[in-house]
Amino acid sequence: MDKKVTVVGAGNVGATLAQRLCEKVLCDVVLVDIIEGLPQGKALDLTEAAPVEKHDAHVVGTNSYEDTKDSDIVVITAGVPRKPGMSRDDLLSVNKKIISSVTEQVAKYSPNSILIVVSNPLDAMCHVAHDVSGFPRNRVIGMAGVLDSARFRSFISMELNVSVDNIHAFVLGSHGDSMVPLPRYSTVAGIPITELIPQKRIDELVERTRNGGTEIVNFLKTGSAFYAPASSAAEMVEAIIRDRKKILPCCIYLEGEYGIRNLYIGVPAKLGKNGMEEVIQIKLTAEEEAALKKSAAAVEELVEAMKKLA
Ligand code: APR
Repeated sequence: MDKKVTVVGAGNVGATLAQRLCEKVLCDVVLVDIIEGLPQGKALDLTEAAPVEKHDAHVVGTNSYEDTKDSDIVVITAGVPRKPGMSRDDLLSVNKKIISSVTEQVAKYSPNSILIVVSNPLDAMCHVAHDVSGFPRNRVIGMAGVLDSARFRSFISMELNVSVDNIHAFVLGSHGDSMVPLPRYSTVAGIPITELIPQKRIDELVERTRNGGTEIVNFLKTGSAFYAPASSAAEMVEAIIRDRKKILPCCIYLEGEYGIRNLYIGVPAKLGKNGMEEVIQIKLTAEEEAALKKSAAAVEELVEAMKKLA
């Protein structure tokens, strides 16, 4: 295939993403992990599924970044997932070191690639990848909003018994407790949910969306969600590879948009062959704007805390 995508981290999110990418017949995939044998075994297993799934994407598993050379896109899922009782922020110190070393290697072997960061705490890890790679902001993007809005869409679909296809939802802000679901911009067949669901119930769905990751961690106990995160990252990869100019909520380094500067945070952005091609600025009410600013302050605090870490 003419596109090459590296997935760093062959764990739950990474391996599921690799599967999605080849089954969508989007690209060849290189799966990298620090554990010897893990990426090789999963890649071989995916290769052996290909005749049944009927695709010709090549999947290679490796522990060496040399094999990732000249990737078009690199998705970083390496790191430690959370366990019950942990917040995403509790992963800061350990994942900072991992993302930093991974990014160094990725930037060395694929200096023109587009990075999509998935590891948590997401907004802070985007800062690490951006700083270490030195890539421009259009080539370092975080995956969070697609996942958070997919969760919101699922809950709206369950609530109204309507196809998920008809549902569009927007979630902005950080991928944490302060995320900002926007009911006014969330619609069912074009109708805002504020006209379809009572406010009290919307508030409950919003709260469930905010806690969507924790809800799954509490079920799984040994790790965190991976099917929906992998699907969400795959949608971003597809938008870029196919140059779809798709507007998706992504974690973007803002340079003054929404009155926020030098900070990664979730906003709608257009994804195409150049990565993040445009930040879409939507009108917010004073209340929504205040929620976004509060979310930005939470990310800023985390970024400051990260600077103090060794
Ligand atoms: N280089 C490459 N791979 C690494 C490195 C490293 N330096 N450090 C850890 N890994 C690998 C692990 O060996 C493991 O296989 O990352 C993989 C992570 O997989 P899981 O433990 O299954 O975690 P997963 O559920 O995939 O989550 C990964 O994504 O959603 C986020 O919060 C989640 O930060 C976590 C990340």
